[in-house]
Amino acid sequence: MEQILDIIKRRASVRAYLDKPLPEEVITNIMEAARHTPTARNLQELEYKVITNKALIQKASDSVAAALAEQDRPVQPKYRPSFFYSAPLLIIIAGPRDNYWVNTDAALAVQNIMLYATSIDLGSCFIGMARFIESDPKMIEELHIAGDMRIAAAVVCGYPNENPAPIEKILNVEFFT
Ligand SMILES: Cc1cc2nc3c(=O)[nH]c(=O)nc-3n(C[C@H](O)[C@H](O)[C@H](O)COP(=O)(O)O)c2cc1C
Repeated sequence: MEQILDIIKRRASVRAYLDKPLPEEVITNIMEAARHTPTARNLQELEYKVITNKALIQKASDSVAAALAEQDRPVQPKYRPSFFYSAPLLIIIAGPRDNYWVNTDAALAVQNIMLYATSIDLGSCFIGMARFIESDPKMIEELHIAGDMRIAAAVVCGYPNENPAPIEKILNVEFFT
């Protein structure tokens, strides 16, 4: 069995996916990885919007593009045609605006999801840009995100259509012994 450290080292952001849906049991297991996320003060306040509806994922991407256009920010070529890279699964993670640790909790959930995805040879990518969906009240309503909640993080998963090598990572560390 692959060791967790090997999975951590093997993970790389995947930005091209096969047009192939994920089986239900795989999505269930991905959400089990999310369930076991630690949260500050054990509040467990994260809400997961698990989206497999292709049209809705494209609509969410269009919301991000519209928000950037509003701010006169050009869409970088890598984000075309979709900020979600046409992945078959988009998970948007929302949490209470008044929870100071919501971004940290959500980032831990994304890492759990990405490492589980890597362990079963799925691709995944953290999508911070999903936060721009907040500029679109209609989309927020469609995703059932209440007014006291905000988008804290998002992640896509799917069968990879590219095989990026893990990026070399530096480690700034001082040991005090
Ligand atoms: C907080 C955060 C937000 C990110 N947002 C995006 C994003 O919106 N779109 C994207 O393609 N990648 C996004 N990424 C992925 C990073 O670009 C990626 O992790 C980084 O380039 C290192 O590559 P690696 O994941 O392959 O190690 C994000 C990563 C983090 C940690």
